[in-house]
Amino acid sequence: MEENQEREIVAMPRIGDKAPAFTAKTTQGEIKFPDDYKGHWTILFSHPADFTPVCTSEFMTFGKMAGQFEEANCKLIGLSVDGLYSHIAWLRTIKEKIEFKGMKNIEIKFPLIDDVSMNVASKFGMIQPGEAATQAVRAVFYIDPRGIIRTIIYYPLSIGRNFDELYRVLIALKTTDEFACAAPADWRPGDEVIVPPAGSCGMAEQRMSKSDPDVTCHDWFFCTRKLDKDEVLKKVLKK
Ligand code: BEZ
Repeated sequence: MEENQEREIVAMPRIGDKAPAFTAKTTQGEIKFPDDYKGHWTILFSHPADFTPVCTSEFMTFGKMAGQFEEANCKLIGLSVDGLYSHIAWLRTIKEKIEFKGMKNIEIKFPLIDDVSMNVASKFGMIQPGEAATQAVRAVFYIDPRGIIRTIIYYPLSIGRNFDELYRVLIALKTTDEFACAAPADWRPGDEVIVPPAGSCGMAEQRMSKSDPDVTCHDWFFCTRKLDKDEVLKKVLKK
């Protein structure tokens, strides 16, 4: 696209919005979103093209970790603007031929959407013409069991996503919901969480007393509380 050419303004879904509904043809049959995904977290992610190296490394990694996401009650849905036969041939090649960083024989069991029409990609703002007009960028949408978009992450075409981070964000979203807290930088299960300072408004049942030995206030606006790793995992896995 020319530098000074006016770009089309598209309404892109944002964090807090209801995720757009869609019906799509996939490698696992037709899916209806959100109807088929009620009661689950969903990660809907796009990639630019089948039979490309970065995307292949990403699919192998997601395929390897799929059980972890499943255990956290999260369903995965992939998407690119390639057709179904391309998807099937690519996933078969990945399973039968590709070995990368110790991963091999990786079978992708989650659905991969045929979005040749760009119908779903357009609804989710995955086509970003400044980066590529005919391919989806690497977008990741986290959608909660109520169908609300809770996190959106974009990567450019040239950089593969960090799947440990994608998993960390899912667990952090579920933890902050379950325990009515916030997660500080680089939070992982077992680390302290952020809680409202004693005497502040909101989340009354979570208000911490100054005498609570599990709470540390670093200043009046910044209090953290110990939260046991097992307690977190017990709550957020399989729910
Ligand atoms: C890749 O997955 O390797 C790729 C796809 C589109 C553009 C650049 C890289």
